[in-house]
Amino acid sequence: MTRGASVEFAGVSKQYGLVTALRPTSLVIAQGEFFAFLGPSGSGKSTLLGTVAGFIPPSEGRVLIEGSDVTAMPPHRRNIGMVFQNYALFPYLTVAQNIAFPLRMRRLPRGEIARRVDRALEMVRLGDFGGRMPAQLSGGQQQRVALARAAVYDPPLLLMDEPLGALDKTLREEMQEELRQFHRVVGATILYVTHDQQEAAAMADRMAIMNHGAVEQAGPPRDLYARPENSFVARFLGEANVLRVVAADPVAAGRLHLRTEEGPALLACGSPPAGIACIRPEDIAIAEAPIERENCFRGRIVDIVHVAGSIRYSVAIAANCTLSVRVRSDRRTAVLPMDAAVHVGWDAQDALVLPS
Ligand SMILES: Nc1ncnc2c1ncn2[C@@H]1O[C@H](COP(=O)(O)OP(=O)(O)OP(=O)(O)O)[C@@H](O)[C@H]1O
Ligand SMILES: [Mg+2]
Repeated sequence: MTRGASVEFAGVSKQYGLVTALRPTSLVIAQGEFFAFLGPSGSGKSTLLGTVAGFIPPSEGRVLIEGSDVTAMPPHRRNIGMVFQNYALFPYLTVAQNIAFPLRMRRLPRGEIARRVDRALEMVRLGDFGGRMPAQLSGGQQQRVALARAAVYDPPLLLMDEPLGALDKTLREEMQEELRQFHRVVGATILYVTHDQQEAAAMADRMAIMNHGAVEQAGPPRDLYARPENSFVARFLGEANVLRVVAADPVAAGRLHLRTEEGPALLACGSPPAGIACIRPEDIAIAEAPIERENCFRGRIVDIVHVAGSIRYSVAIAANCTLSVRVRSDRRTAVLPMDAAVHVGWDAQDALVLPS
């Protein structure tokens, strides 16, 4: 098992003329961590990875791998494995020859190459596929060959930029599980770019949410979901009902009475400044009878969507305010009808109060 390499971004930024691709970013990724970068298109994810790979020289700042400054080091000397979305295999080489390629470049002895290629093929569960040509493989199998080729020389650091982007949903989910397994076995540090929040949350030890060339927040997926620091993170991860706060009055210890632009007045936990209040759809209870929670509103069901394992109701509680409510469901769950008069409710602690 390889010892993963630590990575440090120290004030790294990238400017293309007037375009700011990356604002000064500082972040430390620990040895062996599976770290995901998540964010909308154009938020700077690939740029950040490119500065580690060495393809993109930063405008300012330094990149350190295992504590040494690699900012000026050429890419091929950084000892990094890479897997990219359409990182094509060499079409005229067999699977085994593709995987052997980086080892031949490094002039390893023949026997050693054969041994390592076999091991890499086993690792991605393609033991019998060494003699095939890439065109004779499915998309997922090709992706596994690319992974084997990136990992065959035991790099302590692997960069992956949307490696599953081209695969269908089922295959993606299978490959996510395999990548996690792979990470456990090889022990390398993995920097992983995706714009799929479920993928990031399913795989990463920690993740950074990027927006407009900056990291908005970094931490374990669960923490980011439960304690987003701003409205971008709250909205980007999962769903959130967002109400705009026009006045916040402290009422008791840690409790705020909020008046909102949308109309409803709420009781929430937090302290000023309060810009918005976010309530997750799964934290809201719904019933025909009044609900005994600190916040309870009458409303009317205006939409119902069935998704795997849950039902999502849209409930209008004011002219200007429709809340999304998600309840878990199975075959026995009674579904409330469209247009039903209902109550929705949640406790003060279920609303997150954030600066806007
Ligand atoms: N060579 C370049 N010249 C000018 N602008 C660039 C260049 N490369 C990237 N950019 C800009 O920098 C920003 C960040 O790009 P980047 O490729 O890092 O985004 P990303 O988060 O990887 O997006 P995606 O999810 O679409 O891959 C974008 O606005 C992009 O247009
Ligand atoms: Mg990109």
